[in-house]
Amino acid sequence: MLAEKIAIITGAGKGMGEIHAREFAAQHAAVVLTDVDTKNGHRVADEISASGGKAIFVDHDVVDEGSWSNVVAEAERAFGCVNVLVNNAGIFIRDTIENLSVVDFRRLYEVNVTGAFLGCKLVAPSMKRAGGGSIVNVSSVSGIVANMPGMTGYSATKGAIRMLTKAAAVDLWQHGIRVNSIHPGTIRTPLNEDYFSDPEKTRLILGSTLMARPGECSEVSAALIFLASDGSSYMTGSELVVDGGMTAV
Ligand SMILES: NC(=O)c1ccc[n+]([C@@H]2O[C@H](COP(=O)([O-])OP(=O)(O)OC[C@H]3O[C@@H](n4cnc5c(N)ncnc54)[C@H](O)[C@@H]3O)[C@@H](O)[C@H]2O)c1
Repeated sequence: MLAEKIAIITGAGKGMGEIHAREFAAQHAAVVLTDVDTKNGHRVADEISASGGKAIFVDHDVVDEGSWSNVVAEAERAFGCVNVLVNNAGIFIRDTIENLSVVDFRRLYEVNVTGAFLGCKLVAPSMKRAGGGSIVNVSSVSGIVANMPGMTGYSATKGAIRMLTKAAAVDLWQHGIRVNSIHPGTIRTPLNEDYFSDPEKTRLILGSTLMARPGECSEVSAALIFLASDGSSYMTGSELVVDGGMTAV
């Protein structure tokens, strides 16, 4: 589904980003993995290359504008103009509105929102040169509902990503660039691993998930591949929920 596509995936050193990179490569995309975690980023890119896929790793902090320019330059040098961007990198800090510090709120906003904004802004010129492209911003069910305590900062950033996506879609459609958001529910990754060591916390994080289990990273990758591919050619500014039915109730 992704043959001939050149895709940047941020935060690809571990968690969902790692699996997305592996699944994109399995679909014959050339993948540019980026992360602040250089050790894991190199490991994943090397493993994809060793198994016959096309992948490079670029050291990258999504909050740094200059670092984004370097990612685009490295992607074009290695493979050509960029067709797909997955703004996946994100951080999670959980605290109630009274306890969350302004420092933590600003950090959440910087990585989760400014990072995605810079990605849309700085990768769009390469996509224009490619004749169009698909940007997928990774939001969350927390960008749609507030269904457990302590999510103020994180939910605010994920809601902002949802609207950043729609506004960017309006700005970029004339250039053949589609922009959509994806909203995973509870997916077991290093980001929330501590919730699965304690049955009480597991019950809390699964909340109202109809399927009563966490999702697999690959279940999100499948939806992401659809949004990245030409199969979703009539979708822009839309939001795709992958949550085991959590937001249905
Ligand atoms: N795990 C879930 O249940 C869940 C649910 C909904 C949405 N999400 C979102 O999915 C995305 C991936 O989450 P995950 O669970 O795989 O997280 P994770 O913590 O397992 O992985 C996130 C990756 O992003 C990288 N990263 C963090 N800050 C960065 C920065 N400034 N620049 C570049 N890379 C950076 C980390 O090094 C890490 O490799 C995040 O945006 C997260 O908010 C996760």
